[in-house]
Amino acid sequence: NKARIRQEIIKINTEAARFFYGSLNGKEGEKARQYLKNRSISGHIIRKFGIGYSPEDWSMLYKHLSAAGFDEGIIAESGLVLTNKKGGFYDRFRGRIMFPIFDIRGNIIGFGGRVIDSSMPKYMNSPETKVYNKSKNLYALNMAKNSGEKQLIVVEGYMDVISLHQNGIINTVASLGTALTESQGRLLKKYAEEIIIAYDADMAGQAATLRGLDLLNDIGCNVKVLQVPEGKDPDEYIRKNGEEGFRDLLKGSVSLIEYKLKLLKKQTATTATDEIEGKIVFLNKAAELMAKVDNLVEREMYVKKFSSEYDISPEALNSEVYKRLRPKG
Ligand code: GTP
Ligand code: MN
Ligand code: MN
Ligand code: MN
Ligand code: MN
Repeated sequence: NKARIRQEIIKINTEAARFFYGSLNGKEGEKARQYLKNRSISGHIIRKFGIGYSPEDWSMLYKHLSAAGFDEGIIAESGLVLTNKKGGFYDRFRGRIMFPIFDIRGNIIGFGGRVIDSSMPKYMNSPETKVYNKSKNLYALNMAKNSGEKQLIVVEGYMDVISLHQNGIINTVASLGTALTESQGRLLKKYAEEIIIAYDADMAGQAATLRGLDLLNDIGCNVKVLQVPEGKDPDEYIRKNGEEGFRDLLKGSVSLIEYKLKLLKKQTATTATDEIEGKIVFLNKAAELMAKVDNLVEREMYVKKFSSEYDISPEALNSEVYKRLRPKG
């Protein structure tokens, strides 16, 4: 019976996606169509991702699903409707661009909805249901897994995925929200030899990148960071610089250690009170990071680079690294 309810919720979601798609292309969808056009989203990609629009009225979807014969208890379980004080139903998503969320097989398991003005909250997502478990799913993995590439790129949001796919970067998935979970990490590991984290270039994105790096590294993934220049996210970047510009960024992706060393350098440069102190703090912390690099060739590269850059002998830096080596267990 649980399996039957799951099937039924997926059917409801599929019908809802059809309804939202129709509404985007109807009279009520005009502002939404204009919004997508302003963001350069093509008709082809709208169809591919099943993008739609939820009407502003209170219960258009509920009435539609109900008239289609779905049981109201199961409609409620889909998370698409909420109940008011009088026990009546109204639609959760109203006046939003709708993004169906697919599972790995392409079933629609939930939705994300974005406002088309500056009202808050900017995005709303389906709640957890019998078919939608946010932390175990990656947006667009059903498409990205067939890209034929060894890498998977992880971005933050719907629009990043859609914009990258539209521009030919189809090995892209979104973690939806900023914190990558361990289950999502294991999914990534299953489908890719290398993971590229490409989060937004803001404080939240940077913090999430560090957590994601450690998480993926800890479960044994090869992981790199693609750094989007100041203030931008992958969608904005590729819209401005095209596929080639984005592929250049991809080529410049850095390893975990390089990313952390770069951040550390920036941090000490801004917090140190004088130049000497800044160098000392940086080199000691850098030695800590380098001690975690098991590959000797790689480790020596960093020792060389930073000893020359900071004008100290490689021997001195190397012995600081040695002091910090983990005992082999
Ligand atoms: P655009 O403004 O449409 O380009 O979206 P964005 O993806 O760039 O937004 P942002 O970087 O702020 O957020 C990244 C992702 O986090 C979004 O795609 C959503 O999945 C999620 N998110 C952002 N804002 C909210 C919010 O207000 N509520 C919820 N639940 N999720 C959000
Ligand atoms: Mn945000
Ligand atoms: Mn952001
Ligand atoms: Mn964006
Ligand atoms: Mn963003």
